[in-house]
Amino acid sequence: MRLADPPRPDELDPVERVSRDELMALQLERLRWTLSHAYDNVPFYRRRFDEAGVHPGDCKELSDLAGFPLTTKQDLRENYPFGMFAVPRSRIARLHASSGTTGQPTVVGYTRGDLDVWADVMARSIRASGGRPGDVVHVAYGYGLFTGGLGAHYGAERLGCTVVPASGGMTPRQVRLITDLRPDIVMVTPTYMLALLDEFAAQGLDPRASSLRIGVFGAEPWTERMRAEIEDAFDLHAVDIYGLSEVMGPGVANECVETKDGLHVWEDHFYPETVDPFTGEPAPDGGELVLTSLTKEGMPVIRYRTRDLTRLLPGTARPAFRRMEKVTGRTDDMIILRGVNVFPTQIEELVLRVPGLAPHFQLHLSRPERLDVMTVRVEARPGFTERAGAAAALAASVKAGVGVSVEVDVVDPETLERSMGKLRRVIDKRPDN
Ligand code: DLL
Repeated sequence: MRLADPPRPDELDPVERVSRDELMALQLERLRWTLSHAYDNVPFYRRRFDEAGVHPGDCKELSDLAGFPLTTKQDLRENYPFGMFAVPRSRIARLHASSGTTGQPTVVGYTRGDLDVWADVMARSIRASGGRPGDVVHVAYGYGLFTGGLGAHYGAERLGCTVVPASGGMTPRQVRLITDLRPDIVMVTPTYMLALLDEFAAQGLDPRASSLRIGVFGAEPWTERMRAEIEDAFDLHAVDIYGLSEVMGPGVANECVETKDGLHVWEDHFYPETVDPFTGEPAPDGGELVLTSLTKEGMPVIRYRTRDLTRLLPGTARPAFRRMEKVTGRTDDMIILRGVNVFPTQIEELVLRVPGLAPHFQLHLSRPERLDVMTVRVEARPGFTERAGAAAALAASVKAGVGVSVEVDVVDPETLERSMGKLRRVIDKRPDN
């Protein structure tokens, strides 16, 4: 594989080199500021803290944060559009919003200072991925209210890269741009990268011969098997980036290319915890990720429940910064099939182990009689004909690995819907769903 050097120490942000103790001292100072800022300026937080009988002054050490109330997506919805802002609207330099496909949208706001921090953490993320000033960066995350495109864009500019703001969609043109402008780095969702891969084939181009050295993939869950698939297909380093609009956007955490062992949380700006998704109690061995912003002015978030499931681990490539394990799923993506919990990523891992099956699959849920049925609809790789055998192999491995019986339907190549950004994997046709 082409080289992607880790940054030299002098290329890092000074804070990336501090000790854990120094980092924790900085976090405590910033946490105390954030709690006061939220309490003083956001009526919602003042009410919540008062109801829980806590005051910002009670936070004397980092572990005291666990005594403060959690914040949910529902709280953001109820305060739509600007109720969570801690500064006058006139100080807000930019708004982003979630799509709102699953209910009322939520709006997030950034001051100039917040946009500056965001560009910094994104620049740091791209550098951790192996990017350097002067690299050409093709951004195929969607631009607009979604935070992916503009977040990646300003980070790449901040690092000193040449940015191609391709945005999502118009797939043939994306491949043309990659061929002609010779980017070093692509930033895109992993499933849209697969659509680009198909398009390389359709245009008779060898993806391994492209100029791409690094892919910075996120905005949806993806597995180690998918990493291997994409790295092999394009001969590049596939690196994971995590974030969410409520907390900032992309750039909350990022893998380091030299280790690819989970995502270093940029803890000088975001404080992570994990809680039991059912009780909300601290769960040090892993659970739902909860994030508190440490420097945000416009819309500080205190103990925000991300619904993403992960585990916190000690730092490696950046020793002071804890890592989060690759997100295996969201609490709201979890399928409960006849009493067994199933995440789409578990199926992804297994699909990619069966020779002849492509990484394109959907999970169809139905209830033909009284019992739920899940059908894995998966494409065959081009030219592959042993479909019945592959279907049986996948069904057997799902039964053995996940513990549920599923139907498998192996369909023709290029018949399932392709992603333009975040892919919808689960199609739920059960009554009441
Ligand atoms: O997806 C921000 C982003 C853009 C991250 C580009 C990375 C790259 P939202 O639209 O608010 O923001 O969606 C956030 O997406 O809570 C996770 O469930 C999921 N997600 C984001 N990154 C990852 C990842 C952006 N690396 C939601 N792995 C989050 C798994 C991810 N899930």
